[in-house]
Amino acid sequence: MNFHVMTLFPDMITDGLNTSITGRAIKAGVMSVTAHDIRDYSNDKHLKVDDYPYGGGAGMVMRAAPVCDCYEDIVRSIGKRPRVIYMTPQGYTFTQSMAEELAQEDNLVILCGHYEGIDERALENIVTDYVSIGDYVLTGGELPAMVVIDTVSRLVPGVLNNEESAETESFSDGLLEYPQYTRPADYNGKAVPEVLLSGHHANIEKWRHEKSLERTKKFRPDLYEAYIKEHPEESR
Ligand code: ADE
Repeated sequence: MNFHVMTLFPDMITDGLNTSITGRAIKAGVMSVTAHDIRDYSNDKHLKVDDYPYGGGAGMVMRAAPVCDCYEDIVRSIGKRPRVIYMTPQGYTFTQSMAEELAQEDNLVILCGHYEGIDERALENIVTDYVSIGDYVLTGGELPAMVVIDTVSRLVPGVLNNEESAETESFSDGLLEYPQYTRPADYNGKAVPEVLLSGHHANIEKWRHEKSLERTKKFRPDLYEAYIKEHPEESR
């Protein structure tokens, strides 16, 4: 999987993703992340990429030409027109199933906005998917892009090792994950639940499932309702 990020802050992307599991996968050649500096495509002598909004109003708007020229350069380098995801609070909310779909692609372009947004004509020309990471507003699309890349990359074969990928995950069955414990069995008077020390696998599975249901009901009643619709016998 090759991620191509169009941004005004390329260091933010490379510094963030060359670390930890994504960094390991990049070094191993299982995935690549290339940050393309939109400013390199400015034809302004001061390298400006933004301008005042037509119609007035606060803030600046990123101009269409540097964004589209940057994209065309990426297209030339890979020889096809890949999906372009624009990170914006005005998009569809990012989900695990969206990540699963994106993980099927060989190349993904992610466009990060700044200021008050990007000239709509650039978006009309190149964007295929409008994606938000939640109902809050960040200063730019770089952190959201990293969220998408991190989530998609762990679904790409070879990014996680066997142990990491075998891990039971929240959302894979529509429930939140159960609590985990490690040594010591007693931490400042707080004991690990007895059943986890029992070695009785069926009871452990049952306990974990109960805890998953309990947590999901408490923290994500929307997910709980959806799960119970599919499994009415588990209602509590
Ligand atoms: N840019 C600013 N806020 C954002 C959000 N919530 N999701 C995606 N991109 C954004």
